[in-house]
Amino acid sequence: MDRGYIYVNKTNYLNNINYLRSLSDKELCLVVKANGYGHGIEWAVKTAIEGGVKWFAVAAINEAIKVRSVSDNVRILLLTEPSLSEIDKVVSNNIDLTVYNDFFIEGLKKSDNSFNTHIKIDTGMHRVGCEPEDFQKIYEKIDSSENINLTGICTHFPVADIEKEPTDISIKLFKDLISNIDTSDLLIHVDNSGSTFYNFDPIFNLSRVGLAVYGCNITPVEVDHELKPTMEIKTRISNIQHRKKGEAVSYGKALTLERDTIVGTAPVGYADGFPWNSFPEGKVIINNQFCNLIGRVTMDQILFDITDVNAEVNDEVVILGSSEDGKSKISVFDIAEWNKTIEWEILTNITERLERVEVE
Ligand SMILES: Cc1ncc(COP(=O)(O)O)c(C=O)c1O
Repeated sequence: MDRGYIYVNKTNYLNNINYLRSLSDKELCLVVKANGYGHGIEWAVKTAIEGGVKWFAVAAINEAIKVRSVSDNVRILLLTEPSLSEIDKVVSNNIDLTVYNDFFIEGLKKSDNSFNTHIKIDTGMHRVGCEPEDFQKIYEKIDSSENINLTGICTHFPVADIEKEPTDISIKLFKDLISNIDTSDLLIHVDNSGSTFYNFDPIFNLSRVGLAVYGCNITPVEVDHELKPTMEIKTRISNIQHRKKGEAVSYGKALTLERDTIVGTAPVGYADGFPWNSFPEGKVIINNQFCNLIGRVTMDQILFDITDVNAEVNDEVVILGSSEDGKSKISVFDIAEWNKTIEWEILTNITERLERVEVE
């Protein structure tokens, strides 16, 4: 081992896909943007295809191209509008578009190519999407267009992972808006991970799920979930030093040692995606014991207290995942808590530098 590995767990990932699928009759559209939430986009797509997934959602054309490089037989939904100058790539990679404004739709109409589109309605997120009162006009514009095919209608929820009631209000608004439309040949999709656990209305036939498939339970309703973690990050002790009480280690000398301390170093840092704010609350696991970080996370290395652990250079350091005896665990949620951020940010900020290794 050089600097460490990101272990992506195929069995757990496929378990999560099957479990999410078992919740309703909706087809799964796996959200694989931001490098498959850090897992490696090609791996996330290839493995999901083995699990029977046919739809993938991304945020950028270059992500869509990576999905297409894995398979010609899947559908790809671009969640955000690209620039019209990118349209050639949309066509050559057969990418479904999310549409909601006149400017973009008029641009598509001028093209010699044809497009599959999904109208996004803003039902409360207030980021992108057409205003509810503009939906009928946009729908008619697409319906009467010769080269724009309507494939789906969708919305996106702002608080589905926190509160059910505002999401129910968005669902009702959405259903009212599409009630006069023949939806029989359309994909009607609103769910993200949070609402997939409580929106079982049969009008919806596709679910855009990201975080849950990577093993994080983020729904506000009580569920006896079966999601399993899909990623572990493990490295090794690269150096051991003995420091005196009163000294401090790492940038900023942010913590003065309260006792003579044996300090371990591991070659993983914030440039790998282990966030800077993990200190002071963060921990690692060595030989089945938690060890506190005792200095600021640096770009390429971290420092931790191994005074009470029988540890040697090259011993394994668990950054994310479970101890060998299975009794101690560091989750994506834990790292997010130390950093006062959200699980999505932790996973999507994991960089390319550590090699991904598939485990089963
Ligand atoms: C439009 C859209 N749909 C679905 C998702 C998936 O969300 P989650 O990771 O909470 O399942 C996202 C994620 O950012 C999104 O932007």
